[in-house]
Amino acid sequence: DSSSVDLSKDAAARAAVALVENGMKLGLGTGSTAKVFVDRLAERVHAEGMDLRCASTSKATADQARSLGLVVEELDDLGWLDLTIDGADEVDPDLNLIKGGGAAHLREKIVATASDRMVVIADQGKVVDCLGKFKLPVEVIPFGWQSTRVHIERALAELGLEGRPVILRERDGQPVRTDENNFILDLALEEIHDAKSLANALSAIAGVVEHGFFLNICNLAIIGRPDGSVVELR
Ligand code: A5P
Repeated sequence: DSSSVDLSKDAAARAAVALVENGMKLGLGTGSTAKVFVDRLAERVHAEGMDLRCASTSKATADQARSLGLVVEELDDLGWLDLTIDGADEVDPDLNLIKGGGAAHLREKIVATASDRMVVIADQGKVVDCLGKFKLPVEVIPFGWQSTRVHIERALAELGLEGRPVILRERDGQPVRTDENNFILDLALEEIHDAKSLANALSAIAGVVEHGFFLNICNLAIIGRPDGSVVELR
């Protein structure tokens, strides 16, 4: 139920806070689990008088972090980061991820790949044997997005995924806009065994800005449990 999920997120967030060292340049993720991490991080920073500089993966997280007194700067003013902590929508046994349920995967990937290490925090419900049950978010340029969708459908067909729905993400009858003002197409893959081929095919399509596969980016996943313990996947 939801309270055990909340306890799990808190356990993972606390374990991740313990990885933070004074003086670090830190990437802050987006989503409900990352939000708990930022809360717990701020508590530790104030309790210990830590000196951190943070880059955020979204406006929402930047606002939260600043409201808690954390120092948030532009990624390009920080340069390379020591560590990024973020949530995920799916984590497989090889630490490949699907992200972007919160429409933030573009900035999340830029920040994660500008870091020495990326650590994912999640509850057990995010751990899967095979990626794809969670719809793959793909950020696209609004101009000509329907043509872009046709190219995505063709790419899926070439990989044996013909007819899998490609759905424009909407809220209140309007397309969802990302922080970069783009649209999101959600791909109902069900199961994807060759994520790398699909990732490459998507990246080759004009109009695709970034897909939500994070392949070989995550270094460690901390999976929280409702009793407060964690399991680490490496
Ligand atoms: C944001 O775009 C996503 O990548 C999030 O990191 C992901 O959706 C995890 O969010 P929750 O922690 O809320 O499940």
